[in-house]
Amino acid sequence: MYIIKTIDCLYKKIQFFKKKGKTLGLVPTMGNLHKGHIELILLAKKHADIVIVSIFINPMQFDNTLDLKNYPQTFLEDYLILKKEKIDILFAPETPEIYPNSINMHTYIEVPKLSKIIEGKSRPGHFTGVTTIIGKLFNLIQPNFAFFGEKDYQQLLIIKTFVKELNYPIKIISMPTIRLKNGLAFSSRNRYLNNLELKKAPFLYKTIKKTINIIIKNNGNKLHETIDFAKQSLIQKGFLVDIFNVYNLKTLNFFSKKNKKNIILASVWLGNTRLIDNEKFILLN
Ligand code: PAF
Repeated sequence: MYIIKTIDCLYKKIQFFKKKGKTLGLVPTMGNLHKGHIELILLAKKHADIVIVSIFINPMQFDNTLDLKNYPQTFLEDYLILKKEKIDILFAPETPEIYPNSINMHTYIEVPKLSKIIEGKSRPGHFTGVTTIIGKLFNLIQPNFAFFGEKDYQQLLIIKTFVKELNYPIKIISMPTIRLKNGLAFSSRNRYLNNLELKKAPFLYKTIKKTINIIIKNNGNKLHETIDFAKQSLIQKGFLVDIFNVYNLKTLNFFSKKNKKNIILASVWLGNTRLIDNEKFILLN
């Protein structure tokens, strides 16, 4: 495994593999690797000859400096995981290598509308930070494939949109959310949860599943009552609910009974930790 910290070295290594006709698969991460990332790496290995994992805690996508400061940094653990998984290149640049000048003055990539609604409304600028860093990584690495988890569903949709609209010749491959047996989605943020919160956290996914069953049973009727009931159950358990609603799977517009393919997107706070989760469902009318 090559550990690369500079853009110069990265270019050289990428050119070396490209000249040999190898296909490249990129798994972009912010480190603090868990089972979800490992599954993405395994998927990348199936598609590409060379697997590159990037670890970069991207300051541009944090709307809150405290959140950025507290984001778990576990480089040694991550390195050992990646070594065990036998990936080819770990690209782990320092911030000035990626943003030599002020981040506020940096050129950005922004998907209109999609990046401003739902999670983007609660975290202004977040998705612009994500699309900008992913665009930069795509330009630096020029992978044939890039891999993302479906837990960050809105992020995935936004990335697919800019890749299509800006004609990046890259295939975006996504993977369903990896969960513990109790339903809790793997996330770097689970690390912040204390024991009591860890016991409560799976209730989020249980509530999403239960809500979907009710919506399907009601054939999409009484949606407001169903969503209110779900939110109240979460509040009673001690969650602070920021987002819990049903959206069109493709457009992320609010639910309409005409939609067949839908998704519940949820963002909640448990103590000081923001958890997000989702589940798709089909409504047959
Ligand atoms: O999902 C993440 O870990 C990050 O948003 C990503 C895609 C690596 C961009 O920094």
